Amino acid sequence: MKIRTDSRLPGAYWKGIFLLLCIMPLGAAAERAALIQDNVAIFYPDNFDADANLPSFALLEEPEEIGALPEDWQTRVEFSSAFGQSMAKVEVDSSTNLYGGGEALSRLLRKGGSQILWNTDNYGYGRDDGVKLYQSHPWVLAVRPDGSAYGVLADNTWKQTLSMSDDVVFSSEGPAFRVLVIEGNTPQEVLATLGDLTGKMPLPPRWSLGFQQSRYSYVPESRAKEIVDTFRNKKIPIDVLWFDIDYMDAFKVFTFDSEMYPDPKGMNAYLHQNKMKGIWMIDPGVGIEEGYFVYDTGTELDIWMKDADGEVYEGEVWPGPTVFPDFTQQKTAEWWSELYQDFMAQDIDGVWNDMNEPSDFTGPDGSVPEDNVHAGGLRLTSNGKPLPADSHLRYHNVYGMLMVKASRQGIVDANPDKRPFVLTRANYLGGQRYAATWTGDNNSTWEHLRLSVPMSLNLGLSGQPFNGPDIGGFIGNASPELFGHWMAVGAFYPFARAHSAIESDDQEPWVFGREVERASRVALERRYRLMPYLYTQFYQASKTGIPVMQPTFFADIADTSLRGEDRTFLFGPDLLVVPKWADKPSMPEGAWRVLSLVGENSLRDEFQPDLRIRDGAIVPAGKIIQSTDDYSLNELSLYVSLDADGNAQGQLYHDAGNGYGYQQGEYALIEFAATTSGDTVEVTASKTEGNYPAEIDQLQIKLVTDDGVKTARGAFGEVVKVRL
Ligand code: NOJ
Repeated sequence: MKIRTDSRLPGAYWKGIFLLLCIMPLGAAAERAALIQDNVAIFYPDNFDADANLPSFALLEEPEEIGALPEDWQTRVEFSSAFGQSMAKVEVDSSTNLYGGGEALSRLLRKGGSQILWNTDNYGYGRDDGVKLYQSHPWVLAVRPDGSAYGVLADNTWKQTLSMSDDVVFSSEGPAFRVLVIEGNTPQEVLATLGDLTGKMPLPPRWSLGFQQSRYSYVPESRAKEIVDTFRNKKIPIDVLWFDIDYMDAFKVFTFDSEMYPDPKGMNAYLHQNKMKGIWMIDPGVGIEEGYFVYDTGTELDIWMKDADGEVYEGEVWPGPTVFPDFTQQKTAEWWSELYQDFMAQDIDGVWNDMNEPSDFTGPDGSVPEDNVHAGGLRLTSNGKPLPADSHLRYHNVYGMLMVKASRQGIVDANPDKRPFVLTRANYLGGQRYAATWTGDNNSTWEHLRLSVPMSLNLGLSGQPFNGPDIGGFIGNASPELFGHWMAVGAFYPFARAHSAIESDDQEPWVFGREVERASRVALERRYRLMPYLYTQFYQASKTGIPVMQPTFFADIADTSLRGEDRTFLFGPDLLVVPKWADKPSMPEGAWRVLSLVGENSLRDEFQPDLRIRDGAIVPAGKIIQSTDDYSLNELSLYVSLDADGNAQGQLYHDAGNGYGYQQGEYALIEFAATTSGDTVEVTASKTEGNYPAEIDQLQIKLVTDDGVKTARGAFGEVVKVRL
């Protein structure tokens, strides 16, 4: 296997390679294909190299074949090799739309695009025109004109390109790899199967759905406390404050600076008193310094990544000279998890893993050399085979995934009764099992605000529902107008966190004047009122693999005019978010009535997107709260929008909001239904599943009609009547 050591190749070079590969006649058909489920086929090239590809990182289990491929199986894979590259191609009909590919700097429709799947620290998305970003998802979702769909999954971690110029072509620098094709009657069905195969996001703690404020960095701790106080004094809802690298002593992970943060436990206690949580950063690079316990213990255990000559590889990150844990080893994962014991004992609530592509300031292409060597030995699952030793070219794209797997385990070991929360920058297909995602170092520009919507959507269409960008933009300074719009839309990202760079001006909601402060408050009050609905959507995503933030075309998969709509988006299946800057968007059929949640009039408001409720939906909403600590269902509002037959349905998931009781039945699933007879609408609410109390006392029905909102009240369990 030839290993390329210089990867500093300009985008134009790669584009040339794509084009060449795409026009070349591709070689022999698949050596072997079989079904692994009724709707899933697996294709192997004749020269498949199992040792160089297995065990799979994306798949939860090694697939078992259940039979031969039926004659009429539509989507087939052709394999070939040329110029030392292994290729797999799926021919795509010209009328079929392509999505996915994970994190990509792209509009929603992916046809015509290409990307390099090579996790890259890409400041401002500027390196190589953003053709490679922080994560790798060798996955494409294809939707045919009739709404039926298929997905193509290259089970391959090696450096590769994904071209969608017409057909889907994966060209890998690694040995021949296998490909799975999932068929479905709808894109939702394909995503559900992707979730079954690659795993789903575990249900996160409810607090992680709240708003989160970050900057690089809040120091000293008095500044962090000031931020907390200002949110609370100004009554801008918030759940989490973030601690970037400057809290550490000389950027050494698992340490605290004695001047900036002399008492991290006290800082976290302050947050907790204020009904907030603290998330603290941990990077993979370990500063080289004898006497530093992380460096010393890692050295003693011999867990650092080695170079091609077998010497410990030394790179450079924030602490200066740095070594990198080799997470392909069992002992590394265990040591790393163990480090979280003392760290979490500071009453830390969640962890942010950054720079885990891994980023290396002095290494080739901003990372460590491709011919570095990983020792292997880790078992991804308890009954799986150990990872073999191999080059960084093979393991680079899963470095971040292996790191967050070990981090998550460490956090669970430290706090076995709490649901863990990990945010990661680098990851790989299937990585939703371990961590949520933010999309790295974007710019404070309108372009990146607009692109954040398709970027989040395509991540959701690639198995990762819990994601979002830096609200306000990381690099540069947002104008008041841009920040106001970003907060207004940002309230509807699944992961809603504002963050900004060390050089940037302050970027909290109140620094842009009263109007933007008010807009931020209104935006977040809307999100917090919708918390019962949002938590239900997260529950659904954790069960089904279907994303929380969905493309507008999910509202009507047969309407091809919606396929490219990526300024508006669905927030769960029942609410459509129409940003102010979405000029003449393609709207799905139906009434989609405008919803007002906190007294706002989005039709006149400068910033707030229209929030439109699907006809036929019932959306549960709580009170305006400042923190999810105050979450309660005791005065639940039900926003009801009737369909043409006068009916509507909705659902609410409820549990303790943290812990694992829900896995033992400690949850409540509540169904809502509205029916109409004559001029009376009858609304019922009933618990249908689970042992947890519904904890609903009074219901307020808000019937949203074309002529305004009609209100009625009633007790939970009773039929509540509303006059039309
Ligand atoms: C890079 C991350 O992308 C950014 O969010 C963070 O603030 C800096 N590293 C400093 O830790």
